[in-house]
Amino acid sequence: MAASSLPTTFSLGVCYYPEQWPEDRWDLYATRMRELGLAWARIGEFAWSRIEPAPEQYTWDWLDRAIESLANQDLGVVLGTPTGAPPPWLIEQHPDILPVDPEGRTRNLGSRKHYDHASPVYREHARRIAQAMAERYGQHEAVIGWQIDNEWGESDSTRSYGPVSAAAFRAWLRNRYGSLERLNEAWGGVFWSQEYSDWDQIDPPNLTMNDPNPSHTLDFYRFSSDAIVDFQNLQVEVIRAASPGRFITHNGMGHFGEVDYYKCAEMLDFMSWDSYPTGQVDKDLLPDFDPDYWARTGHPDLTGLNHDLIRGLKQGPGPIVMEQQAGQINWAKTNPLPPDGAVALWTVQAWAHGCGAVSYFRWRAAVGGQEIMHSGLLRYDESWDRGGVEVANLQITGAPLDPIPARVVLLHDYESLWISDLQPHAEGWSYWKQFTLFYSTLRRLGADVDIRHVDSNLDGYDVIVAPAIQIVDQRRADHLVSAARNASLVVGPRTGFRQPTGQVHPDGQPGPLRDLLGCSLLNFDALRPKMSVTVDDEEVTLWAESYRTERAEVMFRYDNGPLKGQAAVVRNGRAFTIGAFSPILIGRVFAHVLTEAGLDVTPLDDGVRVARRGDRTVWLNFAEDDHRLPDGRTIDPVSFLID
Ligand code: GAL
Repeated sequence: MAASSLPTTFSLGVCYYPEQWPEDRWDLYATRMRELGLAWARIGEFAWSRIEPAPEQYTWDWLDRAIESLANQDLGVVLGTPTGAPPPWLIEQHPDILPVDPEGRTRNLGSRKHYDHASPVYREHARRIAQAMAERYGQHEAVIGWQIDNEWGESDSTRSYGPVSAAAFRAWLRNRYGSLERLNEAWGGVFWSQEYSDWDQIDPPNLTMNDPNPSHTLDFYRFSSDAIVDFQNLQVEVIRAASPGRFITHNGMGHFGEVDYYKCAEMLDFMSWDSYPTGQVDKDLLPDFDPDYWARTGHPDLTGLNHDLIRGLKQGPGPIVMEQQAGQINWAKTNPLPPDGAVALWTVQAWAHGCGAVSYFRWRAAVGGQEIMHSGLLRYDESWDRGGVEVANLQITGAPLDPIPARVVLLHDYESLWISDLQPHAEGWSYWKQFTLFYSTLRRLGADVDIRHVDSNLDGYDVIVAPAIQIVDQRRADHLVSAARNASLVVGPRTGFRQPTGQVHPDGQPGPLRDLLGCSLLNFDALRPKMSVTVDDEEVTLWAESYRTERAEVMFRYDNGPLKGQAAVVRNGRAFTIGAFSPILIGRVFAHVLTEAGLDVTPLDDGVRVARRGDRTVWLNFAEDDHRLPDGRTIDPVSFLID
């Protein structure tokens, strides 16, 4: 490994907590990591009480020795700033750091993430501890990079509703709107007599009698996300200055929507994420999904989507999986053991979807603390656990980090997610569910996809897909019109329904996309969980909307229900609008769009996926039975083939 950087080919690492183990084990652990083929370890992200046991009394000696023991084995070190767990003395000194939940209750210390990101007091302490660490270790040869805090928003910590956040929210609103007239206008304050005449009248949108004004809540979500980005960047700034040449990242979570990861990524070198495939299955993200069937491996698309999303947050190196489950986890409702082959399969999938490295969580199963039931590469007794054995036998280290040759791009936007999920209108519908349905449909047809922010440069793609971009203003519409000149465009329901304020366009959906899509909304129908209608005999659940065609042609109409005879799918040249939540119908439309765009369509069994990286083609089977590949070969259960 080049000094002070990640390897330039695929590497493996581990999440390690030396402070949790007797010091006389450290050298042996580092040796065993090296023997396992690991190149680096992430440490430190929850060690504040050991680094600074009392105010401004730093105890570095143990951390010096822990880093040394890794460095002696030529292992790189990723240092986590410990701000995800402020120590008890700090909370005792400043109890107002604690966050407040939507019910108005102060949340207590005793686990982790117990802080309001907007707290000026906590920000100062976070900056101070990050700076102290960076000054001590920023230029250490073994230190290759930094992780800021740990998993923004974990433990429901994104939003705090107490006085600290309330004051910061008002300041954020003043900055955004400048005047109360503009704010009242943007929020539609005349509705229910909500016209504010003093900034101090505005609170976070909790404990209201009925649902709060969605524009108010949308801004509170924006503010809360920005507060985290600011909190992060305070630390980035001091680490950049004291630790030149090292990467700085943050470890996000799968299918997490409360923080705008595009804004997070701006000041980072790259984003990372924490992949726990078996923890995703209860999230109700795919239609007709049997969580029991996928409980041991997770579904390939639920993990693949996050790889593709995190990869698209920023152009350049990365991303990496900072935490990869290496056995059973401890935080799902039920935590089954993964089958043989799953840890290797997840690792290869990460590489195939563009990751630069995978680091396993965690080195040794904890014997104390909240995560006692979680597996590690080592069992409690230090023997290799099943995941450790798989890693030892896996030959993926050193694989080249070539680009993904995706011709299809899915467009994503956190603000559209926030406003969509504030008013889902149909029980069980969500932004992620709509997004994941489109993603999974494309993956089932064998397409490699990128996921990019809706406003990013879309040059070079053949097919652009906007599953659920509800917020569209004129600028965004112009961008999409120009992107669609050289590509096919497919949009899902509710596209262009709202303005950035959260209000509906005065001319209705799709607002400024009307010319491009050649249609406008007639009606939308929300279907209760057991209700359905059909389009061309294909079942539609959850959501059905119909269109008045202006220039577009109707491809499919509703067969029945209140929208009978009205358009469900329309096309205007190469711009397609799909208004019905219907997996099979959507599959038919996408097969048509891909073929027309000159792309291959390779229908795959559920659980079998293909991913291309550089000139390699990787076949993945997440199912616990074998499957026939399109070329006639058989792929074993829970396994991969690399061509
Ligand atoms: C992650 C977290 C880790 C650990 C892990 C257990 O969400 O970042 O610190 O708690 O889950 O699965």
